[in-house]
Amino acid sequence: MGKKVVVTGVPGVGKTTVINGAMERLAAEGVEYTAVNFGTFMFEVAKKENLAADRDEMRKLEKDVQKRLQQAAASGIAAVSADANIIIDTHSSVKTPTGFLAGLPEWVLRELMPDIVVLVETDPDQILLRRLGDASRTRDMEGYRAIAEHQEFNRAVSAAYAMYTGCTIKIVRNENFLLEQGIDDLVSVLR
Ligand code: AP5
Repeated sequence: MGKKVVVTGVPGVGKTTVINGAMERLAAEGVEYTAVNFGTFMFEVAKKENLAADRDEMRKLEKDVQKRLQQAAASGIAAVSADANIIIDTHSSVKTPTGFLAGLPEWVLRELMPDIVVLVETDPDQILLRRLGDASRTRDMEGYRAIAEHQEFNRAVSAAYAMYTGCTIKIVRNENFLLEQGIDDLVSVLR
């Protein structure tokens, strides 16, 4: 069986950047991983059903609609992952207008059964500046405290994921000017 590693973090923390760096490093060592983005799987269904015009609109959808999209994404990913090493780029929790929605509820965990859940984190002020610098996305405007609370909630809800699946939880720091260190930490759990 391949390793199933779920990589999470608040929007703009740099999940995709750290994943891409780790994949490059591992490919050079001959260790193969496939990376999939959970939001992309959700958005394919949302687009087909005219539910959202872009991926940033999905977290504003009715809770039950988001749950249905999650279900579709989880079974789609389970179908493509088979026995390969896989990285799933997603969210421990999603901030919706009615509160935090678990990113990996029971029906998603049952499909994915991850070996490791990684939380990519850094200081909230760094995340804020990264969001402001990324014009390609429609980010929610949040302050330092709200980002800090979201990171705290992600740790709390991830403890439940560990209880349910027996996976380990790894915290990877992705700090300004220290991207390589974050990549090293992720590589160490993927190897
Ligand atoms: P997704 O596309 O995953 O949204 P996101 O978290 O906003 O993704 P980003 O790619 O923008 O952020 P990132 O953390 O990967 O940062 P990046 O590497 O780009 O999901 C879209 C939507 O799908 C969600 O909003 C949600 O609605 C839905 N969804 C997904 N999973 C779900 C689930 N399980 N349940 C329900 N809904 C779900 O980097 C950001 C910037 O920072 C870049 O400019 C980068 O260059 C810079 N940067 C990165 N690292 C550093 C560094 N060390 N120093 C300086 N700059 C850095």
